[in-house]
Amino acid sequence: MRLCYPLLVCLAAAASSAFIISSQHVWTKVILTHHWPATFCSMEHCHANFSYWTLHGFWPNSGTFCNSSWHFNSSQIQDLLPDMKKSWPDLFKPSSPEFWKYEWRKHGTCAAEAISLNSQHKYFSKALELYHKLDLDSILKKFNISPSEKYYNFSYIEGAIENFYNVKPKIQCANSAKNDGVQVLGQIELCFNPDFTLIDCVEQISTKSVSDTDLNEPMGVDKASGLSVCDYDVPVYYPPLQ
Ligand SMILES: *[C@@H]1O[C@H](CO)[C@@H](O)[C@H](O)[C@H]1NC(C)=O
Ligand SMILES: *[C@@H]1O[C@H](CO)[C@@H](O)[C@H](O)[C@H]1NC(C)=O
Ligand SMILES: *[C@@H]1O[C@H](CO)[C@@H](O)[C@H](O)[C@H]1NC(C)=O
Ligand SMILES: *[C@@H]1O[C@H](CO)[C@@H](O)[C@H](O)[C@H]1NC(C)=O
Repeated sequence: MRLCYPLLVCLAAAASSAFIISSQHVWTKVILTHHWPATFCSMEHCHANFSYWTLHGFWPNSGTFCNSSWHFNSSQIQDLLPDMKKSWPDLFKPSSPEFWKYEWRKHGTCAAEAISLNSQHKYFSKALELYHKLDLDSILKKFNISPSEKYYNFSYIEGAIENFYNVKPKIQCANSAKNDGVQVLGQIELCFNPDFTLIDCVEQISTKSVSDTDLNEPMGVDKASGLSVCDYDVPVYYPPLQ
């Protein structure tokens, strides 16, 4: 009674704490992750035939597996399927929906807490829209960064992306299998506000990022074991399709 007087203050306090509780998982950033199929497949032993950056995921920065009763249903994204197969392929089983189903369960159901992404169609079509808008593959080529047997300076790759989009990307590399002082370009993340404008992908040192938690996933192409943020001092190999 002493704490809740007058009544309006009390109601306001109750309403604001309810708001905080219900919005605990609403994300503040969403990460569009591209991977380089040749690097992925050399790590995971697949035989994908894609010579361009494909989508790995569209990950809100808060929450995973938010609604287990919201099942993936490919007939809700029927019109997107041709583009999905091209832009967001399952590198283990091209044109299988397994990867999309997994990404929806793990990340899409959390993304869907925002009205802007609260259906499967909204979630997948927004990811595709942003992927095409960024057009990362062409931007790298524009800066003469192409798959090649020669090595790149990591600062050059990062600088090209950063200067073009005007935000900081997160770029991950795999260690070379031969462990010969070379790192292999593997994954590029670009981050967006809830209103889908680009923002820096700033890592918080003390908290695990969504992508890092993916490292521990036992299932499918969503895991990206062995990737870490690229090192400035190690030459970068951007492998051509074998
Ligand atoms: C991979 O794609 C290239 C170009 O599209 C094609 O020439 C080649 O036959 C494909 N290889 C396989 C194994 O599908
Ligand atoms: C979870 O998904 C189901 C099926 O779409 C929906 O009816 C339900 O409201 C969702 N639950 C929450 C907490 O969003
Ligand atoms: C999938 O979505 C379609 C179209 O909205 C609907 O007709 C169908 O019942 C859904 N299937 C399941 C298993 O929910
Ligand atoms: C990489 O590029 C940066 C910036 O252009 C330069 O300062 C640095 O010396 C280069 N490093 C190597 C190893 O070439």
